[in-house]
Amino acid sequence: MKFETLNAPVARLSESSPVTYCLGFSSPTVLDQPPSAPLETRSDRIGLEITPAMQEARGMDRILIQGGVPLRGEVEISGSKNSALPILAATLLTSEPCVIRHVPDLSDVRFMLDILSHLGAEVSQPDKNTVRIHARKVEGVAPYDLVRKMRASVCLLGPLLGRLKACKVSVPGGCVIGPRPIDLHIKGLNALGAEITVEEGYVVSHAKELHGTTLTLGGRHGSTVLGTDNVMMAAVLAQGTTVIENSACEPEVVDLADFLISMGARITGHGTPTITVHGVEKLHGSDYRVIADRIEAGTFLVAAAITKGDVTLKNISPQHLQSVLRFLEDSGFKVECKGNDVRISCNGATQAKDFATSPYPGFPTDMQAQMMTLMSVTPGVSVVTERVFPDRFMHVAEMQRMGAQIEMEGATAVVKGVDHLSAAPVMASDLRASAALVLAGLVAKGTTEILRVYHIDRGYEHIDDKLRKLGAKIERVSGGG
Ligand code: EPU
Repeated sequence: MKFETLNAPVARLSESSPVTYCLGFSSPTVLDQPPSAPLETRSDRIGLEITPAMQEARGMDRILIQGGVPLRGEVEISGSKNSALPILAATLLTSEPCVIRHVPDLSDVRFMLDILSHLGAEVSQPDKNTVRIHARKVEGVAPYDLVRKMRASVCLLGPLLGRLKACKVSVPGGCVIGPRPIDLHIKGLNALGAEITVEEGYVVSHAKELHGTTLTLGGRHGSTVLGTDNVMMAAVLAQGTTVIENSACEPEVVDLADFLISMGARITGHGTPTITVHGVEKLHGSDYRVIADRIEAGTFLVAAAITKGDVTLKNISPQHLQSVLRFLEDSGFKVECKGNDVRISCNGATQAKDFATSPYPGFPTDMQAQMMTLMSVTPGVSVVTERVFPDRFMHVAEMQRMGAQIEMEGATAVVKGVDHLSAAPVMASDLRASAALVLAGLVAKGTTEILRVYHIDRGYEHIDDKLRKLGAKIERVSGGG
C-alpha cells in the first residue's frame, strides 16, 4: 500500500511532496504553511529539533504511521525470537542434521545463522521460516565482528563447551537497556568444571571433562534466562547429574529444554526454579517447531487496546501471557481466550494501573515499554517499576516528545494518562523501545516518523505488513527513499 491511500489531509500533502509531507506533522492546520515546505523549516517552526543523527537515520529504512485507526481483524503470531536463538545455537550439540520450524524471519536470526555458518555448520533455509542445520564439524571461535551484532550470541558458550570442551566466544558489547553482565553464566559453567578467563575481549573456556553438580544461578535481579540456557546446554553432555537451582522459568527456557529432550537429552523440572539434567553421551538430530512469540503477541494486544480496536491473535499460548492478559483485563479491556486464540476489544471505560516487571511468571520486562505507552493514553496515573533491567527506559524521552507525561525516578516511571499523543519524528533505540514508539504512532494525532527501524526488524517479523493488514495506516520507506 502506498501512502496515497491514507486519509485526505495526508494524501493531499503527498501529492506535492511524497517523502517530506509526513515527517512528523501531517495536518496543514497544525503547520499552517504550504505542504511543499522543506522538512527542517516545518519542524523548526513548531520548535522540534532535527538533529544530525536524525538526518543520518533518514538514509535508512523508516516507518511512517498515521495514527487514529482502530485495528480490526486477525493476526498470526510468529515464532519466538528468544526461543529460536538458543535453539539454533543448540543444534551445534549434535553432528546430525536438525530442522527447526516456525523460526521468525528476523535480522537477529540471520545474525545467528551467519555465526553458525562461520563455526562450520551447513545452514540452509528450505523456506523463510524453516532452517536446516547440520553441524558435522564445529570450530570453537566466535569472533567479535559477528558476535557484536547480537548480544544473544552469548548463548553459544554452552553448546560449544558441551560439544568441544573448549571455545572462545567474544564478549558481547554494551547494550542500551543497561548493563548485561555474564558473571552468572561463567559461575554456572565453572561449577560444571570449565575453566574460564576473559582475554582480549573473548571468553575463553576449556574443560577436560564437564561433570554434573548442584549449582545456583540467582542474581541481584532474579534468575537469568540465557545463563540458564547456557548451563543447561553444557550440562546435557556432561558426566553425571546437574541440578540448576534458581533457574529461569521463562517459556523460552522450557522450549529450549523441550528441543534438547527431542535430541535425546534427559531434562526434568524445566519451567520450575529447579532444573535437573542427567548427562548423556551423545545427542541426535531433531525436527522441532518453535513456540509462538509471547512478546510479539503482547505487543499486538497493546496495539489493539491502544487504538480501541478488536483483534484476534491466532495460534499463541495464552498461558504464556497470563500477567499481561490479567493486566489488560484489570485496566478495562475485554479479553477472550479460546483455545490458542486470544481476542481483545474495548467496549467500556479503561483505567490506568500500576505494574512492576519481574522474571516469569511476572510481568515481562520485554513488555514494559509497550504497556507504558498504553498507560500514557489511559485515564489515571500508572506507576511503572522496572525490576529486571533498572535502566530500561530509553523510550521515555521519545514518548515525552510525543506529549506523554512521564516522570522518572530511578527505576520507576510515573505515567499520567493524557488525552492524546501528537505525532513527531522519533528515533528507535532498542527493540522494545521501538515497538513502544510504533504503538504511540498508532494512536498519535498526525503522522509519526520512526527512524532507525532496524531495531524493530531485529525482533518483529514484518510488523508493518501485519499492522497494515489490521487496518493501520503504516508505510515503510526504504533507506534514502
Ligand atoms: N544478570 C546478571 N548476571 C548475569 C546475567 C544476567 O546480573 O550473568 C542480570 C541482568 O543484568 C538482568 C537480569 O539478570 O538484570 C536478567 O537478565 P537475563 O540474563 O535473564 O537476560 P538475558 O538472558 O540476557 C533474555 C532475553 C531478553 C529479556 C531477558 C529478561 C534473549 C535473547 N534475551 O536476556 O530479551 O529481556 O531475558 O527476560 O532471550 C528482548 O527480546 O528485547 C530482550 C532484551
